[in-house]
Amino acid sequence: VEIRKATRNDAARLAELNGVLGYPVTAEVMAERLEGLLKSETDTILVADDDGTVAGWIHGRIQEILAAGRMGEICGLVVADDQRGRGVGRQLAEAVEKWVHSRGLESVTVRSNVVRPESHAFYERIGYVRFKTQHAYRKKLSS
Ligand SMILES: CC(C)(COP(=O)(O)OP(=O)(O)OC[C@H]1O[C@@H](n2cnc3c(N)ncnc32)[C@H](O)[C@@H]1OP(=O)(O)O)[C@@H](O)C(=O)NCCC(=O)NCCS
Repeated sequence: VEIRKATRNDAARLAELNGVLGYPVTAEVMAERLEGLLKSETDTILVADDDGTVAGWIHGRIQEILAAGRMGEICGLVVADDQRGRGVGRQLAEAVEKWVHSRGLESVTVRSNVVRPESHAFYERIGYVRFKTQHAYRKKLSS
């Protein structure tokens, strides 16, 4: 597969693959998100293009946290069910790692839900080391 930058035209397929992650979203909503993120200097959205079909996508981000400084993160990664196990996820992760490294950072972080044991095995296989376990909290805001 060829790893390339996502474009607006990928919105429908990216939305479809987002459903696999458990966050169903319409192509229109995905197109709006893409529009903003594709302009962002601190984000990269890459796709694995298999002869015209997008087999997977990844979102990498560099953010500055007051307490921790600048850090590189994989914010989302998904490979289509029927394309797994052929190195697509690894290629996407490596492309983000290269992007983060080229911006002067020495590490990449990823948070993976405990309900996705397959992704834990994947990350460990490609060199990531678990360094922290957290709880995620959310408060619903009344309108
Ligand atoms: C996790 C995911 C991205 C892996 O993508 P993939 O393209 O199948 O992974 P690769 O083929 O590049 O695998 C790279 C290595 O990890 C290993 N690996 C991948 N999935 C694995 C699994 N479920 N169990 C054990 N090892 C696994 C592969 O065997 C390979 O090792 P090798 O190089 O020694 O052969 C894919 O399964 C996926 O999209 N899952 C659902 C979404 C998800 O969990 N995303 C991550 C959340 S942040």
